Amino acid sequence: MLGYDEPLVDSLPRGTVDSFAGTGNPFSFGDLRPGETVLDIGCGAGFDTLIASRQVGPSGRVIAVDMTPAMLEKTAAGARELGLANVDCRQGLAEELPVDDESVDVVISNGVINLCPDKVAVMKGVLRVLKPGGRFQIADIIVHKEVPQGAKDDIDLWSG
Ligand SMILES: C[S@@+](CC[C@H](N)C(=O)[O-])C[C@H]1O[C@@H](n2cnc3c(N)ncnc32)[C@H](O)[C@@H]1O
Repeated sequence: MLGYDEPLVDSLPRGTVDSFAGTGNPFSFGDLRPGETVLDIGCGAGFDTLIASRQVGPSGRVIAVDMTPAMLEKTAAGARELGLANVDCRQGLAEELPVDDESVDVVISNGVINLCPDKVAVMKGVLRVLKPGGRFQIADIIVHKEVPQGAKDDIDLWSG
């Protein structure tokens, strides 16, 4: 439904696919190039990180950032299972990215920024870490209408 190539999805570890919680497909904006450095903000279980890792190849690198150690461990386990040595898992917040200035060719993210209370801080961080001419390929949720207070107060609508 999101346009991921089915054989590609089938080639990922089952646990990675089962834990996928993205809202779209960052690669629909274009594939990554061999040798590029990529940052996946809110990598979760690593679905997009592992795809990115294969696209950039051994000469490239994927920095996978998540605030949750349990999700980072899933990403690291997936990379180990596929023998991908170019995945660099870092615990941290999207609002305070643990990444050097102007060090990244492409920032990807899938279903994360809508969860971040300080979206301006996230965007400033993205601009900070991207090299000049770098790319920003995200999939996320945008709300076009004001969310009713009743929905904001209903925790069952916010959690899975
Ligand atoms: C909906 S899941 C998406 C995970 C992954 N991108 C995917 O497509 O499967 C959101 C992820 O973002 C992480 N996350 C949420 N808010 C964050 C923040 N402020 N900083 C870092 N990670 C965050 C969560 O821990 C979770 O792993």
